[in-house]
Amino acid sequence: MNYQWYPGHMTKAKRQMQEDIKLIDLIIELVDARVPYASRNPDINEIGKNKARLILLNKADLADERTTLQWQKYFAEQGFYAVKVNAKSGAGLKAIGAAVQEACKEKIERDQRRGIKNRPVRAMVVGIPNVGKSTFINSYAGKACTKTGNKPGVTKGKQWIRLNKSLELLDTPGILWPKFEDQTVGLHLAMIGSIKDDILNVEELALEVLKYLHGHYEGLLQERFGITEDEDAVKMLAAVADVRKCILKGSEPDYMKASAIILEEFRNGKIGRISLELPPVSLEQ
Ligand code: G4P
Repeated sequence: MNYQWYPGHMTKAKRQMQEDIKLIDLIIELVDARVPYASRNPDINEIGKNKARLILLNKADLADERTTLQWQKYFAEQGFYAVKVNAKSGAGLKAIGAAVQEACKEKIERDQRRGIKNRPVRAMVVGIPNVGKSTFINSYAGKACTKTGNKPGVTKGKQWIRLNKSLELLDTPGILWPKFEDQTVGLHLAMIGSIKDDILNVEELALEVLKYLHGHYEGLLQERFGITEDEDAVKMLAAVADVRKCILKGSEPDYMKASAIILEEFRNGKIGRISLELPPVSLEQ
């Protein structure tokens, strides 16, 4: 299977991350709110041990609101501060300041005990490719920030963005690699368009999307495409091809074109706000 990630990439990304992590107090981990499981790499727990942690459920505008709330609750139970955001529009970013203070309480109190006043929290954004790291840094840092430039002891070229007097952000995000532990991880990342995948072709992927939507969000396909929903995903694909006039010469349905339309509309939230993953249910419940 070919997923863009090779051991060489991984080793390099890991080494870079281990270097950068020495410089910071807080890890701001971005996950995709539609697939918080598939878009996380639990290795960050080991790499970032002893650091304060904050999870941002990004692209919350595309995810099911109720499911995102369940994920927030789940992460809180795991001891993480989690905030839902839309890095593109800036929605939810205001809540981050307070969450940072909360997540770094111990460090701030420790500083105070040692008589260190107003040392800003230093943070770094991490996440797998496409999760919205650059978008987040740009919109959170905005135009108001000032780059503080290179500082002694900081790897050459590294810059800190001063967000306010209590928070500085490393301007380059840490890239985590997806962890393909089970097949659904690759499938879900491919469904949201996060990996240039070779695991499934466009048609197979569209069929998976249709199956999932019919099974978990019944009615949405009918609403969007005006088709009759069916257990048979191929039938639904043919119906979409028909409705959207995807027809080959000789009046054969153009499944490829219909599949591309389904994937595009699903990935951009045009079909609705959809989550592909639920948090694991705790055994005590
Ligand atoms: P990365 O640094 O982690 O690799 O991700 P990057 O910021 O490049 O974002 C990847 C894509 O996700 C971009 O879309 C970006 O606009 C989009 N994105 C980031 N945050 C959000 C969000 O909260 N909501 C939504 N809906 N989209 C978000 P793109 O297709 O590469 O570009 P474009 O569509 O913005 O032109």
